[in-house]
Amino acid sequence: MAFPTIRSRQRVPPKRRILVTGAASGLGLALVRAFSARGDRVLATDVVGDRPATLPALVDYLALDVRSDADWCGALDHVEATMGGLDLLVNNAGVAAAGRIDVASMQEWQWIVDINLLGVVRGCRTFTPLFKDQGSGQVVNTASLAGLVHAPGMAAYNTVKAGVVALSETLVHELSPHGITVSVICPSFFRTNLTDSFQGSDAEVEQAGAAMVNRSRRTADQVAATVIRGIDARRDVILTDPEGQVIWRVKRFARPLYRAGMKRAGVEFARAHETKPRATASHW
Ligand SMILES: NC(=O)c1ccc[n+]([C@@H]2O[C@H](COP(=O)([O-])OP(=O)(O)OC[C@H]3O[C@@H](n4cnc5c(N)ncnc54)[C@H](O)[C@@H]3O)[C@@H](O)[C@H]2O)c1
Repeated sequence: MAFPTIRSRQRVPPKRRILVTGAASGLGLALVRAFSARGDRVLATDVVGDRPATLPALVDYLALDVRSDADWCGALDHVEATMGGLDLLVNNAGVAAAGRIDVASMQEWQWIVDINLLGVVRGCRTFTPLFKDQGSGQVVNTASLAGLVHAPGMAAYNTVKAGVVALSETLVHELSPHGITVSVICPSFFRTNLTDSFQGSDAEVEQAGAAMVNRSRRTADQVAATVIRGIDARRDVILTDPEGQVIWRVKRFARPLYRAGMKRAGVEFARAHETKPRATASHW
């Protein structure tokens, strides 16, 4: 007589074919390591030409500058030829900007829009036709808590990340009839090499921004573990830390409190950064 077996309630996700951008460092690298450790087939990509030595041995590498349409076409060809399709695209590559609206240069705005916003747009445009043909696929875009709540002194970064949130929310509804799910990741500060990309147009404010990232107690591995749980659950918005969840809820449900907090942050920011004469040489 056969006894009924007790099935585990834990859902083990099937092995998947995954492409990650910005995978040479920080969150991208942590995600690649975690996916690879659980047996997923991963294509790591980054702007750097040579394969980073830090990637796990089984992970394939392709140089992909998210600003380049030609690189994206090459990535699609590579995926079709070597993987036979894709299950998950992680548009993670990004750079950082911090600066006052009247100090940071227009060149810096154009640079960050091209990488952090249009880089994600290009990834979505490149792989959506394949996902539609497959009738399945998952897109995960790395934004930031800065895409949901907008502190002073970070206008360019806040704006592009809010754009990634808007793009992702749009695609949730546009692509779900095709069997495609879309998530957006919104972490607050965690320790990575992100601030190495600062361009120096408002060095004083950049220094304060770098301190926030470098002093954070959170690591990329910790954020990646939370992100992967959110991806497996196919959450629309993946908030990775308790402070982020609190401040996002306050903005949505206690608006006067949020406004008062941001007003105070604006006054403190002005006090900290408007006492010295400003450098305007790099304005344009
Ligand atoms: N570290 C934080 O505090 C934080 C917080 C919220 C969101 N984020 C976001 O997380 C993502 C990953 O950043 P990170 O913190 O791991 O920083 P990181 O600098 O360690 O990693 C970013 C990676 O993106 C790559 N990259 C830069 N420009 C590129 C381009 N044009 N094409 C392809 N790759 C490019 C870099 O080479 C690098 O490997 C970014 O989108 C960032 O905005 C970071």
